[in-house]
Amino acid sequence: MQGKRILLIVGGGIAAYKSCELVRLIRREGGAVTCVLTAGATHFVTPMTLAALSENPVHTTLWDLDAEAKMGHIQLSRSADLVVVCPATADLMAKMAAGIADDLATTLLLATDKPVLAVPAMNVRMWQHAATRRNVASLRGDGVEVLEPDAGPMACGEFGPGRLPEPTAILAAITATLGGQAKPLAGRHVLVTAGPTHEPIDPVRYIANRSSGRQGFAIAEAAARAGARVTLVAGPVSLPTPAGVTRIDVETARDMAAAVDAALPADAAIMVAAVADWRVAAEAGQKLKKDGSGVIPPLTLTENPDILARLARAPNRPRLLVGFAAETENVVPHAEAKLARKGADWIVANDVSGDVMGGTRNTVHIVRATGVESLPEMPKDAVAAALIERISDALA
Ligand code: CTP
Repeated sequence: MQGKRILLIVGGGIAAYKSCELVRLIRREGGAVTCVLTAGATHFVTPMTLAALSENPVHTTLWDLDAEAKMGHIQLSRSADLVVVCPATADLMAKMAAGIADDLATTLLLATDKPVLAVPAMNVRMWQHAATRRNVASLRGDGVEVLEPDAGPMACGEFGPGRLPEPTAILAAITATLGGQAKPLAGRHVLVTAGPTHEPIDPVRYIANRSSGRQGFAIAEAAARAGARVTLVAGPVSLPTPAGVTRIDVETARDMAAAVDAALPADAAIMVAAVADWRVAAEAGQKLKKDGSGVIPPLTLTENPDILARLARAPNRPRLLVGFAAETENVVPHAEAKLARKGADWIVANDVSGDVMGGTRNTVHIVRATGVESLPEMPKDAVAAALIERISDALA
């Protein structure tokens, strides 16, 4: 980040206040920030605040005689290393996707020759609206990096995806995009498993677990951003596929094992999936019925293949094999035992006794034969960025 110049375009949404914290974080890492506010943004955060935090003039209008006499907007759009749109509102992204340039922010976005990173924040229904889905897809197609919003309670009282990611996670994405010009995983194939598996009982019922897939998807996204070819074998989750990632959807542990085998060879495999340890021995062909006799049908379980342990012994074993260990007690000792038992190179252990499964934050310990590295609690995409940085170093 040292010496990098960020042009920060602040859109008009309630999350605009978080752009102040982002400016502070970029400055702390040694970057320089120039802010541009849309008219809407000025209702949420003042130019004075951002000028003080960035220690740079703040721009709000295309009709600035002094600036435009020197081709102001063109120069502004070209003199940055990266353009960050934060928050990217539904309206701003719609204009970007359509190529509309009717104010300073949109004119800069159309005139720039630099990479653009958009950080959406909006109401969950606006994010899920077909028009926004279309606009996000076409922006990604145009080469704009559009981050996934966080899910959770919103300022408007609703719940779901649409929250601005934590400023630390945005900073990690900015750093990765800037550093990404170096693409430390270019030419590597990274295999990631994510999500739960569903093990059928009968045609309508299954055994499952609480895994949301978020951590695995974030890792796949970070690996792709670092230049890797990424295959993501995903259990049943409804998360969007990260940009640049090849996704293979599976349902059961056995499907996942087969998809992993088919995706090999890989330079690194990161097994984040919460694979069901057991499945029902004999899946019923028809829905099990209560027959009135009061006899409860017995569910006999049988063990699923251990995908990670099998991969560790496979002839085409990836050079770096990383497992995850979801534990509810004795987190590090259990992970150390798992490292030896499964034959992985690293085990990333996390304590899932709280709301980690399904939540957006995670606290992990990286357990290697040489010792344990504990990371502080952070958003799952920051965990992903930290892991991918270490994986890049290990494969270098
Ligand atoms: N794993 C796997 N196949 C399985 C079970 C687990 O590949 N059938 C992988 C997971 O993806 C994860 C690691 O093994 O990377 C550890 O998963 P976990 O469920 O914590 O371990 P278990 O083997 O189930 O151990 P335990 O039941 O003792 O916790």
